[in-house]
Amino acid sequence: MEKNIEKVLLSEEQIQNKVAEFAAILSEEYAGKNPLFVGVLKGVVMFFADVVRKVTIPCEMDFMCLSSYGGTTTTGNVAVKKDLSVDIKGRHVVILEDIYDTGNSLAFLHKYLLSKEPASLKICTLLDKPERRKPGITLKPEMVGFTIPNEFVVGYGLDFNEHYRNLPYIGVLKPEAYQK
Ligand code: IMP
Ligand code: MG
Repeated sequence: MEKNIEKVLLSEEQIQNKVAEFAAILSEEYAGKNPLFVGVLKGVVMFFADVVRKVTIPCEMDFMCLSSYGGTTTTGNVAVKKDLSVDIKGRHVVILEDIYDTGNSLAFLHKYLLSKEPASLKICTLLDKPERRKPGITLKPEMVGFTIPNEFVVGYGLDFNEHYRNLPYIGVLKPEAYQK
């Protein structure tokens, strides 16, 4: 195990089982609909790549990058750094996310994509940390992989200062790793 990891919260096997489960559900639900999977960079890269490789129906992919300014309003502190490259009007869109934390990013993104009039819009997030949710954010993702306690996690796309994204599992960092 990587030396700065205190404990493994979700093993590679647990994650991959969930990925397979989600891919099967999505393949069934969106058959014949040519869904567009929208990934939120960068945290979602591993989850996105694993899920779409197990999806068995024709589908398309696109990516967005958001930046957040840590303000206090519900959705006013998130900006689009990289926008979609296709028009989603009339499309069946599924947002793939790594984690639903304070909810700022997903609340913003959901509203933003709805304004572009997709035929449908659903959210599939690997992790949910409900204890961190900002009051007033009531959005409920249709698909949630794992509900986790209020601990900062890394691995499988999730970073601390851009490190640890390449770990195949999700773990909790040792306090020393933050203090360095
Ligand atoms: P939000 O607070 O729900 O808007 O989440 C914003 C983004 O912060 C997520 O998409 C993640 O990329 C990142 N994030 C939230 N919680 C964690 C964590 O525990 N570890 C690493 N990144 C996180
Ligand atoms: Mg993210």
